[in-house]
Amino acid sequence: MIYDQLLEGKKGIIFGALNDKSIAWKIAERAYEAGAVFTLSNAPVALRFGEINALSEKCNSKVIQADATSLGDIENVFSESMEFLGGKVDFVLHSIGMSLNVRKGNVYNDLNYNYFLKTLEVSALSFHKILQTAYKLDAINDWGSVLALSYVAAQRSLYGYNDMADAKALLESIARSFGYIYGREKKVRVNTISQSPTMTTAGSGVKGFESLVDFTERMSPLGNATAEDCADYSISLFSDLTRKVTMQNLFHDGGFSSMGMSLRAMTQYDKSFQVKD
Ligand SMILES: NC(=O)c1ccc[n+]([C@@H]2O[C@H](COP(=O)([O-])OP(=O)(O)OC[C@H]3O[C@@H](n4cnc5c(N)ncnc54)[C@H](O)[C@@H]3O)[C@@H](O)[C@H]2O)c1
Repeated sequence: MIYDQLLEGKKGIIFGALNDKSIAWKIAERAYEAGAVFTLSNAPVALRFGEINALSEKCNSKVIQADATSLGDIENVFSESMEFLGGKVDFVLHSIGMSLNVRKGNVYNDLNYNYFLKTLEVSALSFHKILQTAYKLDAINDWGSVLALSYVAAQRSLYGYNDMADAKALLESIARSFGYIYGREKKVRVNTISQSPTMTTAGSGVKGFESLVDFTERMSPLGNATAEDCADYSISLFSDLTRKVTMQNLFHDGGFSSMGMSLRAMTQYDKSFQVKD
């Protein structure tokens, strides 16, 4: 097993495992296999589904409820985690995203601004709150690693991604801005992984998601990165093998972000001209 020992002795907090499709769920499973101990946190509404308990039992973990927009809840996650784990943590995963505009089908040129603010608060500001709380509580060991999940819509327009694109741009900027301070003061690294479209509860809420998954699969020389692939990459970023990687947005997308047109996509596109009406 290639994950053996990579996170042996490391402690962490994983935000955002909802069900076994969640990217955070796969990361938790891999982190456990790699020898880490950690707590799991999610919003009260997510915990009501109860699925996270199965993950917590499997990983000998503890579930701590927190709305990631609440500073009080986040503080509680850190203090309860340090108590449960017996000290400061070495890694934190932010795997949180939600847009009511996406959910309600509001298009980008007809947004509800209360929802827009909520998108930014849940999907981006929550990352700042987690970092600031950890920093103030001095809750992360030197050379620790903090990771959030992003998407290429932060750099490029992709139909249907809506106000989440702005949230991801802000998320990536927070990783750079806080990464400088946390690196300078505490040797803690802060990065985002820009992941391929992945069939999860949050992902499948995006308009035209199945077509997007097919398109990026055809465009990427290595194909889409799965949630399991993302878990592998995340373990490497939590491990001591990547101690000097910080303030980066790391594309994990089979090469999609560097492509313009691929043979597989062109072949499919050509077929549309052959349809007779
Ligand atoms: N699925 C994709 O295609 C894809 C691609 C790139 C990046 N991402 C990002 O990966 C991350 C995880 O998403 P996922 O695809 O695994 O879907 P998911 O639905 O399994 O996870 C989203 C999580 O956010 C949590 N959440 C929402 N509001 C919250 C709040 N107020 N407080 C605390 N938690 C809250 C949900 O409960 C859920 O666990 C998100 O940031 C998402 O934007 C997903």
